[in-house]
Amino acid sequence: MTKRVLSGVQPTGVLHLGNWLGAIRNWVDLQKTHETFFCVVDLHAITVGHNPNDLKENTLSTAALYVACGIDPKLSTIFVQSHVSAHSELCWLLNCVTPLNWMERMIQFKEKAIKQGDNVSIGLLDYPVLMAADILLYQSDLVPVGEDQKQHLELARDIAQQRINNRFNIKGNDSILKIPKALIMKEGAKIMSLQDGRKKMSKSDPNEGSRIGLLDAPELITKKIKRAKTDSLLGLEFDNPDRPEANNLLTLYTILSGTNKESAALECKEIGWGKFKNLLTEACISKIEPIQKKYNQLIKDPDQLNFILEEGRTKAEEVAESTLKKVKDAFGLLEIN
Ligand code: TYM
Repeated sequence: MTKRVLSGVQPTGVLHLGNWLGAIRNWVDLQKTHETFFCVVDLHAITVGHNPNDLKENTLSTAALYVACGIDPKLSTIFVQSHVSAHSELCWLLNCVTPLNWMERMIQFKEKAIKQGDNVSIGLLDYPVLMAADILLYQSDLVPVGEDQKQHLELARDIAQQRINNRFNIKGNDSILKIPKALIMKEGAKIMSLQDGRKKMSKSDPNEGSRIGLLDAPELITKKIKRAKTDSLLGLEFDNPDRPEANNLLTLYTILSGTNKESAALECKEIGWGKFKNLLTEACISKIEPIQKKYNQLIKDPDQLNFILEEGRTKAEEVAESTLKKVKDAFGLLEIN
């Protein structure tokens, strides 16, 4: 049977190189061989303070970027998380069986909570349970994500196995929920900030120069790469713990130029930073330009995007509702016809 894949990105701003190289790039390949569901996780985006007008715009533009990056609506189901109410419903059911202390251990929660000060919402704590609901609703086999999502995937597996299948599968038939696996790329699973090679590239970094947005103009990309942090040594290399910037930028160059690690390492072994940055800029712009071209066409045609999302909602709902029904039944919730 064809394996099923689900993944998503939060519409909290323009997607960056990390989102693309760590996650979406992988989705594009998977859709050829798997049954794929890709959602724009707008309910996750409201777990920290947000602007309602921006959210609407970002949700549509994230969907457009999925397509511009190569997600084909004929091969994949593209939808908005809040359009399928089963996500919130399953999240509630999972909340009722997930121990609070599992949630308090989540690294991303701790990191994000510090930034929120006194204003930490219950939604932020619950973020990983909603993510588990996203994944489990589609009985997903594989979840292509960046490395930072590993712990959330482990949680989804634990909830499914220990808290649902082991406890409620009284009939002993097929399990209620499929146990999903994280799919993490060998290269690009953790793209670092341009300003600090020890920090992850992130949408929430207040320093714009720390990331390259998929919609950044070529001049801006050139400027950001020019200003990217370097070190004082000549030549670039991988995996030297004292040279995180060299490792990060060389990784970016390898993926963007389509070469392999060995050739890139050899090519850049004795190169000066200035010359290397020109090569990286060229590789980056030439890969991003076609995405921007496609995006600019799509975003001018909201009818087409709405059609894609409507179709996606219908297809996603069918699968999600059937899993939700299974879980409700297992929980003993009364159904009347
Ligand atoms: P988000 O929007 O923070 O990230 C979306 C995807 O991009 C990956 N990513 C990175 N990969 C490499 N380097 C980076 N610097 C980098 N930054 C982000 C993330 O790992 C992710 O794969 N919680 C999820 C959203 C989500 C989800 C889901 C994902 C909600 N429900 C269900 C999969 C399945 C997140 O991190 O979003």
